Amino acid sequence: MDIGGSGIKGCLVDLAGGELIGNRVRVDTPQPSTPDAVYDVVRRVVGEFGWSGPIGVTFPGVMKDGVAHTAANVDKSWIGTDVDAGLEAVVPGPVHTLNDADAAGLAEMRYGAGKDRGGVVLMLTFGTGIGSAVFVDGTLVPNTEFGHIQVDGEDGERRASAAVREREDLSYPEWAARVDRYLDVLERGLWVDLIIVGGGVSKKAHKWVPLLSTRTAVVPALLQNDAGIVGAALAAHENLIP
Ligand code: BGC
Repeated sequence: MDIGGSGIKGCLVDLAGGELIGNRVRVDTPQPSTPDAVYDVVRRVVGEFGWSGPIGVTFPGVMKDGVAHTAANVDKSWIGTDVDAGLEAVVPGPVHTLNDADAAGLAEMRYGAGKDRGGVVLMLTFGTGIGSAVFVDGTLVPNTEFGHIQVDGEDGERRASAAVREREDLSYPEWAARVDRYLDVLERGLWVDLIIVGGGVSKKAHKWVPLLSTRTAVVPALLQNDAGIVGAALAAHENLIP
């Protein structure tokens, strides 16, 4: 299951190849996006699959031991909530929740653009916010929050997320300049070996990635919008949850 600021998605996952089995189900995130409202959607989606095994869940905030610690783009009442316990009360299987970008990164490192890549790899997801995941020789350093570095006096994700591109009706070159500035600030404090860019906009990577002037090589994610779901399933199955 992938809990996002605008949509909640779920699917069965084949972990042999990192692929979705059948069609994924997507439901608009209820507004206000309170835990109980979201739990009810998760319950319905899991019910549609008739699934009673382990469930990996992504959450768009810092997650430690099943508890949400931040909630930049969902209802603030999530902060301090034990999400694993809340969901386990409404679905049959054990639940493992982790940060959405960490999940997407795990999937990309296993099956996608980061496969067999050692060194330090940074995955960034551009969606409602900007999510980040750092890997050192393939091992996740969980809960990095590089969407919130300060860029020109503002939260980085408020300048350069994919939602900002849509909201401000920016062309790809205009938005690429925002992303470039964001990455310039990020690269001052972080020397990584590869940057993988994901989220829905990675489908249009050819329109903006070549315009970036980063020191580090930037490649688009390969699993695109499925990465969160696949990574959540992987983390639940292999107990990779921090
Ligand atoms: C949150 C991150 C999350 C990212 C993408 C940010 O606002 O702080 O935890 O990974 O959005 O959803």
